[in-house]
Amino acid sequence: MSAQFDPWSQEFVARPYPAYAQLRAETPVHWFEPSRQYLISRHEDVNALLRDRRLGRSYLHVASHEQMGREAPPQYQEPFWTLNNNGMLDREPPDHTRLRRLVSQAFTPRRVEALRPVVQRLADELVDAFVSKGGGDLIAEVAEPLPVTVIAELLGVPEADRHLLRPWSAAICGMYELNPSRETAQSAVRASEEFSEYLRTLARARRDDPRDDLVSALAAVEGLSEDELIGTCVLLLNAGHEATVNVTGNGWRALLQHPEQLDKIKKDPGLIGTAIEELMRFDTPLQMFERWVLEDIEVRGVRISRGSEVALLFGSANHDPAAFAEPEELDVTRRDNPHISFGAGIHYCLGAPLARIELTASFESILQKAPRLYLVSEPEYKPGYVIRGLRRLEVAT
Ligand code: HEM
Repeated sequence: MSAQFDPWSQEFVARPYPAYAQLRAETPVHWFEPSRQYLISRHEDVNALLRDRRLGRSYLHVASHEQMGREAPPQYQEPFWTLNNNGMLDREPPDHTRLRRLVSQAFTPRRVEALRPVVQRLADELVDAFVSKGGGDLIAEVAEPLPVTVIAELLGVPEADRHLLRPWSAAICGMYELNPSRETAQSAVRASEEFSEYLRTLARARRDDPRDDLVSALAAVEGLSEDELIGTCVLLLNAGHEATVNVTGNGWRALLQHPEQLDKIKKDPGLIGTAIEELMRFDTPLQMFERWVLEDIEVRGVRISRGSEVALLFGSANHDPAAFAEPEELDVTRRDNPHISFGAGIHYCLGAPLARIELTASFESILQKAPRLYLVSEPEYKPGYVIRGLRRLEVAT
């Protein structure tokens, strides 16, 4: 079985779903030696463990590395871990509760809703430029620039500096893949140092001279340390675009390969809401999230001891026949769709409303302005398994 679940193979990354089906049926709690984790593949279990307080994204709030029986990361990786461990995603209560509350004070539903017309205008401009050239790489020209611009605009990163964000983010996100190489770690460390320094300077400038942006709002929040402010901004900038780019790319690939489903949305544009949820389920952009086991637990009769790590397979949960009717079928009209692409429990995606606004704007704009879009070449996935998306999506309008 473990020969099939191979997150380092291009074939598996391109088509992980058959291996997931086998895992769910045969060993829903599967010890995977290469990454020394238990793979959890059923929807019910993934959903339950995401909400189970006996597990955490970190263990450092309750134990040291030694007490947990784990090795501390090598010293040279310190800049990456400092940055990572200062964002809310890798904190647990009570710090997580405090950080999430403080960030929510600045990242308000009003601020997000106010972005809707801005996002639509931006999506229309990008799609107009794309259509006027007759097409090209949809990832580079529409899928990427839209969420990067939106999150940079929201935070208040000046336009002249935005080209720095994607490379920093990509280098840092390399650390979230399984067993990253030393080279990946070194480039993540470099990017962490540069990104932190950049944001420290920006935050200080905004503290002295506030504007109407999120960095200024966060800089004004009481109870957030400077390192936490920087960790939060990097988290928002990275989380704020990586997955959205991949939903757009994976989603259009799925639609173009299922023309009868694409036709349904063209005939009834009111289906856009269910279609976007279905695309997020059908080709899940973030395939796996990990949790540390803080107290001994038992899952389907398998005892998992404190200090172990579980890998929650979101892509598998989203294809579980126990939770979805005909899960291998793309169905843009699917109403009963409890997908977990935005997670569950205390770390449930803070940016889900913004992601939905962005995805609705870009899909609608492409549907209206490029109704005869077609694939020019077979799209290829990037090597990453955890953050899974296409390298390019060549289409013509
Ligand atoms: C389609 C796009 C997106 C997907 C699929 C997605 C998915 C997720 C998931 C699965 C988690 C939880 C991870 C876990 O439990 O281990 C998460 C957390 C988070 N996401 Fe998203 N996300 C998306 C877009 C965004 C956007 C646009 C933003 C910000 C503007 C954002 C900000 C965050 C933050 C701050 C967290 C951490 C929440 C916490 O720890 O309490 N995400 N996201």
